[in-house]
Amino acid sequence: MTADRRQREGPGSRGQGLGEEHSSLEPGTWNLAPTARPRPVLKWAGGKGRLLPELLARLPEGFAGYHEPFIGGGALFFALAGRVVSHPVYLSDANPALIDVYRALRDDADGVIAVLQRHRYDRDHFYRVRAQRPEELSLPERAARVIYLNKTCYNGLYRENRAGQFNVPFGRYKNPTICDEPNLRAASAVLQGVDIACRPFSTVLDAAQPGDFVYFDPPYVPASATANFTAYHRHGFGPDDQRRLRDVFAALAARGVRAMLSNSDTPLVRELYAGFRVEQVLAARAVNSKANGRGKVAEVLALNY
Ligand SMILES: C[S@@+](CC[C@H](N)C(=O)[O-])C[C@H]1O[C@@H](n2cnc3c(N)ncnc32)[C@H](O)[C@@H]1O
Repeated sequence: MTADRRQREGPGSRGQGLGEEHSSLEPGTWNLAPTARPRPVLKWAGGKGRLLPELLARLPEGFAGYHEPFIGGGALFFALAGRVVSHPVYLSDANPALIDVYRALRDDADGVIAVLQRHRYDRDHFYRVRAQRPEELSLPERAARVIYLNKTCYNGLYRENRAGQFNVPFGRYKNPTICDEPNLRAASAVLQGVDIACRPFSTVLDAAQPGDFVYFDPPYVPASATANFTAYHRHGFGPDDQRRLRDVFAALAARGVRAMLSNSDTPLVRELYAGFRVEQVLAARAVNSKANGRGKVAEVLALNY
């Protein structure tokens, strides 16, 4: 890790990266005295909370920049923040509503919290907020709307119809926490200086440099024809996208960028990553349209190091 690498120019190099208080540590070193570590601020389909021990056990020993191009709920990012110092940090996703949440928390946590405190758990209020047009709202209002709908909608899912409108119905909860101010502030703290953008995964090739680490958590290849959950975003994610992703994974390896990827343990995934280290892990899956599909499912982690 050279000094000029640490001073790299660019939007992601503005702040201290993961774990604000530990900027004196070398990037990629473990912080053995974890401080307030935020939990994910959104419940997200395919969230990796249950797989965290498997992911943490396979991280490279040290790395410079950290990239997560399918950030979703950011389970690994938030688990690392406060534990590992990495610099710079790039988080992205193809879902603009999700990116609004992280940008708003980074740039105006007070604004997000103020709007969220005005929302309440009430069916009519829920449908009024759901009907709002995001393009007519300010950034903190858009972020608060997504957080509010996530905390109060059925199953805490994010799903859009073909017109790109959030369409999950009101959910039944006992007194849901709509504004978890301490956690939102902790999330805001670890997002300072982080490059956050709505962009396709392939752009990781523009930013990643030798010595960096990338975690890819794409929409999974369906384990069966009926288990097809690709509604994160109306454009879906098909076999051609999976192939393009493998090509990006291979290009990073050739460049000295370490990458880890999670996916379902399916013939297509085994075929795509045959040239790499592939390890099976068992995880409880929370999002599945069939009740009998909620048990442990076989997933794989592919590593290019
Ligand atoms: C499995 S989820 C990630 C879950 C995340 N690791 C977590 O812990 O919550 C996959 C994410 O990929 C995003 N996505 C889908 N297609 C994409 C694309 N072409 N480029 C970037 N992100 C995409 C979705 O919006 C979704 O947030």
